[in-house]
Amino acid sequence: MFQGRNFLKEIDFTKAELEYLIDFSIHLKDLKKRGIPHQYLKGQNIALLFEKTSTRTRAAFTVATNDLGAAPEFLGANDIQLGKKESVEDTAKVLGSMFDGIEFRGFSQETVEDLGKYAGVPVWNGLTDAWHPTQMIADFMTLKEEFGDLEGKKLVYLGDGRNNVANSLLITGAILGVSITIATPELLFPEKELIELANQYGKTSGAVIEITTNPALAVKDADALYTDVWVSMGEEVTFEERVNLLKPYQINKDLTDRIENKWIFMHCLPAFHDIDTVYGKDVAQKFGIQEMEVTDEVFRSPQARQFQQAENRMHTIKAIMAATNGNLFIPKFK
Ligand code: CP
Ligand code: NVA
Repeated sequence: MFQGRNFLKEIDFTKAELEYLIDFSIHLKDLKKRGIPHQYLKGQNIALLFEKTSTRTRAAFTVATNDLGAAPEFLGANDIQLGKKESVEDTAKVLGSMFDGIEFRGFSQETVEDLGKYAGVPVWNGLTDAWHPTQMIADFMTLKEEFGDLEGKKLVYLGDGRNNVANSLLITGAILGVSITIATPELLFPEKELIELANQYGKTSGAVIEITTNPALAVKDADALYTDVWVSMGEEVTFEERVNLLKPYQINKDLTDRIENKWIFMHCLPAFHDIDTVYGKDVAQKFGIQEMEVTDEVFRSPQARQFQQAENRMHTIKAIMAATNGNLFIPKFK
């Protein structure tokens, strides 16, 4: 079943397995709210490797590890030898001999795949340039909490159509039967193979996949609008380039007024919805815009669910760690 397995990208798990993780997360959230202990990893040690910065993922892994009765150890990019003085393979073998599980956030998907290959203990991807799988369990959990059912719902993602979050939404939605529309300029269309893969999954799940340059048309029958930063961590593009390209894809009231359904707003966070950040101020000064991917009005609207998503990161990461490392009894899925 789950025991001993890695979670490196969404396709590592079947539809039934992803659904189990979502439902188990909802259960763990309830236990946490009611103060019922759930120490499935008692006595374990968990390594948290971060090449890139993080607020939610780091906090979620730390709290989830503590709640599960295990001890977290944060190892930042400047703390260990990984990739600089020691190969990923050697590092994986060493950490795997001491820790019971390893989280990795960084640049290359290959690094996390290699950790998974050589560590001998479960490895969880806390975000790479390619995928953000733990984010997906939280996002689809949030959709389930909101709508009760996932199948047949439509999520429209607007903005950078080929970053880690867009890739992950495309594939996870396709597996789970949630229709995904990506509204983005042609320059930022997802890779062809990914679109083909999503369509392949869609044939079985019923998810309809659409990639479009027209945001106004895309949102009409949406149940959820989702966006992410216009420049991701580690990207070597300028804000100027992206601001010019993605301005028409901003989520603002003009756009949300076109939605005919009951809808929610989603964002993995962090978000540029005002100029209360260093980057936000810089962009405002240089390009004269106060908000990027979402306006402050939508971000603070009654439809906004980004902080529910953020909280759910903790419950879902807990579910992923417990399922893959906690010797749980889980019946066989088809
Ligand atoms: N959504 C997310 O991964 O947030 P952090 O970068 O703060 O971990
Ligand atoms: N696409 C963003 C997601 C942050 C959680 C990034 O990689 O920076």
